[in-house]
Amino acid sequence: MSTPVLTAVAWPYANGPRHIGHVSGFGVPSDVFSRYQRMAGNRVLMVSGTDEHGTPIQVQADKEGLTPQQAADKYTRQITEDLRGLGLSYDLFTRTSTGNHAEVTQQIFLALHRNGYVIPKTTTGAISPSTGRTLPDRYIEGTCPICGYDGARGDQCDNCGNQLDAAELRNPRSRINGEKPKFVETEHLFLDLPAFTETLGKWLSTKTDWRPNVLNFTRNLVDDMRPRPITRDLDWGVRIPLDGWRDQPLKRFYVWFDAVIGYFSASVEWARRTGDANAWQQWWNNPDARSYYFMGKDNITFHAQIWPALLLGHNGEGDKGGEPGPYGTLRLPDEIVSSEFLTMSGSKFSTSRGTVIYVHDFLREFGPDTLRYFISVAGPETQDTDFTWDEFTRRVNFELANEWGNLVNRSISMAHKNNGGVPRPNTPTQADEDLKAQARAAFDTVGAHLSRSRFRQAAQEAMRVVSAANKYLSDQQPWKLKDDPERRDTVLHTALQVVSDANTLLTPFLPHAAQKVHEALGGTGVWAAQPELKEVADLDVPDRVNPILTGGYDAEQARWESRPIEVGRPLAKPTPLFAKIDPKLAETGPEWAPIQVNG
Ligand code: MF3
Ligand code: ZN
Repeated sequence: MSTPVLTAVAWPYANGPRHIGHVSGFGVPSDVFSRYQRMAGNRVLMVSGTDEHGTPIQVQADKEGLTPQQAADKYTRQITEDLRGLGLSYDLFTRTSTGNHAEVTQQIFLALHRNGYVIPKTTTGAISPSTGRTLPDRYIEGTCPICGYDGARGDQCDNCGNQLDAAELRNPRSRINGEKPKFVETEHLFLDLPAFTETLGKWLSTKTDWRPNVLNFTRNLVDDMRPRPITRDLDWGVRIPLDGWRDQPLKRFYVWFDAVIGYFSASVEWARRTGDANAWQQWWNNPDARSYYFMGKDNITFHAQIWPALLLGHNGEGDKGGEPGPYGTLRLPDEIVSSEFLTMSGSKFSTSRGTVIYVHDFLREFGPDTLRYFISVAGPETQDTDFTWDEFTRRVNFELANEWGNLVNRSISMAHKNNGGVPRPNTPTQADEDLKAQARAAFDTVGAHLSRSRFRQAAQEAMRVVSAANKYLSDQQPWKLKDDPERRDTVLHTALQVVSDANTLLTPFLPHAAQKVHEALGGTGVWAAQPELKEVADLDVPDRVNPILTGGYDAEQARWESRPIEVGRPLAKPTPLFAKIDPKLAETGPEWAPIQVNG
């Protein structure tokens, strides 16, 4: 049965290029998952974009002397290019400054408002006196009223660990420009979170099979919920579509309010671009659909609490009831898949320090699949994990080059040399049958892990087939079977069949290499499709052009099944699949992200 699967990928801030920590949280896991789901025959809609509003972008723009839109344009382009390079197969990767996104955000807000889930309140908030803009707590620093530490932030003191209120800090100052914040009375709109206590709690209590790290986080999420502001004093963001608010120069939605709505607005934009403007309904209004959200752990609250509350409110399904909004009854997340953090010390020696490792540099030197593999097999799936060049080198050299690359290379080269194509098998032995059975069985085991986002185990199980095939070749020694060509043909046929199966099993992790192996096995056409970067006109704002990622994934041939190789298909002499890395890298790091040894 084909299930509509929504892969909702966290939206990276358009305030700088992405580093490998970012893409280990949202990027690679969501793509491995989506590629598997497509191969398994499900209808995937994978959406995301850059998160362009709010203080994070405003601050970066000010630093560079740009307007927020200019800064967002610059980084949206870089990020879109990085994600394309990694081969992340988005159906649509867009941005939050589109006309479509503003419209959908406002419609969702109006439905929440009509259903009574939005309350205005006057509060005391910090603003920057020179700009009038909201100064968020974490951008204020001063002396901790509890321990006296001078570098405390407005939201907490890193010295004594206490949660703080910015107004309590002694000698408060802006971390953006040093000025003294002004605390003013200001009116904001709040999401009435307490009005979701019952319904959100009930929904969460049904989610028992999420990753333990996510369940830990969500266990007490609905105890003591308070109303949460969804507007800010800012001039950069989506406007508030209410009389008295619409035209105020310094009132905009809070960045997280519009960003989470992006999952839905991007689905709507995707549908509009396909020419069937309602095509999003099969993922959002369909009880048989499933939705999976991928992110780093600092995003869990927004996805397990705020976004479901917004959806319930829009649907008229919060504790106060209401009417469904303009988009009908929208589906809540089925699973929140969160990674922990990837740190970048770069070295296993604690006296060394690494530097930030940008995706762009990484791709230039090592290509996409080595990083995809590393993140899948050794990434921060359930706990914080450190990236070291040592482990990266080992994984690439021993697992990708020696194990997988060599298996492909020697099987295809031998068959090419002896037969010129895929040899005809003769009577198989038990060893042949066992190896082929192991490879066929892996489709179930690896598939089960992938469908539950257990990427480490999935990659390990797939690599187990590769090891078994290497051992089989060492045992059978086809290179010594000159005098028994019938047996040699059977061994090589068996090896090639298992190379083909292993390639299918590894396709979600290594889509670029998988395409090469497909061709080396004599295949033609697209095995694993890649995203394309296109420049398209904004659907609603005249004269605006946006870079997007999209792709024709229906055309790919990869299916999650063992596909019999065709006897006689011509084979070419293969080229190495993965270049070996100079082991010196483990000690020095690359020039563009060197390991620094402290005194
Ligand atoms: N921009 C946020 C971050 O980088 C993530 C936003 S995810 C979304 O942490 F839900 F808001 F889309
Ligand atoms: Zn303190």
